[in-house]
Amino acid sequence: MENPAGKDQRPKIKALIVVGARPNFMKAAPICAEMRRRPGEFSVKVVHTGQHYDAAMSDAFFADLGLPEPDFHLGVGSASHTVQTAKIMMAFEPVVEAERPDWVLVVGDVNSTMACSLVCAKMGVKVAHVEAGLRSGDRSMPEEINRIVTDAVADLLLTPSPDADANLKREGVPAEIIRFVGNVMIDSLFENLKRAEISVVREELGLAEGGYAVLTMHRPSNVDERENLKPLVEALIEIAERVPIIFPVHPRTKAKIEEFGLNEEINASSLKLIEPLGYVDFLRLYSGARFVVTDSGGLQEETTALGIPCLTIRENTERPITVEMGTNRVVGADPEKLKRSAFEILESDRRPTDKRIPPLWDGKAAVRICEALLSAPPAVAGG
Ligand code: UD1
Repeated sequence: MENPAGKDQRPKIKALIVVGARPNFMKAAPICAEMRRRPGEFSVKVVHTGQHYDAAMSDAFFADLGLPEPDFHLGVGSASHTVQTAKIMMAFEPVVEAERPDWVLVVGDVNSTMACSLVCAKMGVKVAHVEAGLRSGDRSMPEEINRIVTDAVADLLLTPSPDADANLKREGVPAEIIRFVGNVMIDSLFENLKRAEISVVREELGLAEGGYAVLTMHRPSNVDERENLKPLVEALIEIAERVPIIFPVHPRTKAKIEEFGLNEEINASSLKLIEPLGYVDFLRLYSGARFVVTDSGGLQEETTALGIPCLTIRENTERPITVEMGTNRVVGADPEKLKRSAFEILESDRRPTDKRIPPLWDGKAAVRICEALLSAPPAVAGG
């Protein structure tokens, strides 16, 4: 039970929050905002590693999500995973040295997440992992390695769903450093639903609600090799004969489409490539889609929160709760299965009416994250 008198005596927490790549921004923004609402309890500074740097992949999200300008920008940019991770670590160490925060918060599962966690572990600074405990069981995915390493060194594991708690317990993590706080990305989603109504992205693209599908695809396993990307693109073109598909294309995928000479085929079809969108425009776009096809982690969750059918073009998911809730189907990279599943959706009733939302995906995860930090046990991992 919380003691109000004790609460007043809690020392103020000096926090650093790390962002690096696109899926980090919508997780960090609500935490940052909540901490700034509580200046007596928290001070927070934002560190941007620069893993993503294009305006469309980074700046647009700061503006849309009200994230304050980073206090530190490490400017690391793209490189091989090893070099990128090493560069982030080298650039982050002096920031931690100068700031000596009480807590560093890392979010998600990108290279920046793992690199900064390792720095903290080496320096004896406490690190909290937001979105801890997710596991796909597929170590060929760079994100799975990032999740495992980050969770192994973090002092506080803030989980988005009960399956994540179960994974961590199975791995032997002590229960007192695990806190089920819910999904902070859904805080951003709910916060921005109203604002998204004034976006004109659908009008600009001439789309009627429910009359189109949305695609995102950037996983190396889907896009880096011609023999994987080409059959997927061909299947999507076939699906697009029945329902136009809007495809905001990630720079990695765009480069591969060009390299493999797939542009002509795509341009002649109803698979419509557009530039990556900012947070609010993209929310407006997918929230009106008949269905979504994706290999992203976040979009599997966002479609679940809104009750939109989602086809995940991966062999596995670290977010099984989205499948359990009934909106997400993991179809793998088999083009026939993808087509069959898309046609099934088109032939079914327009939307699932009995939308089910996982527990604690309620827009209040950032509040619980702040409370978890205030009541965290002393570091167990050398902090
Ligand atoms: C990274 C994350 C992935 C996340 C994705 C979201 C890791 C291991 N992967 O993958 O989990 O789902 O971000 O987008 O951290 N590029 C640009 N502009 C940018 C950023 C990247 O053109 O602003 C190009 C570069 O050519 C770069 C390539 O995209 O080499 C890949 O970028 P990178 O950050 O290495 O990985 P992502 O595929 O974006």
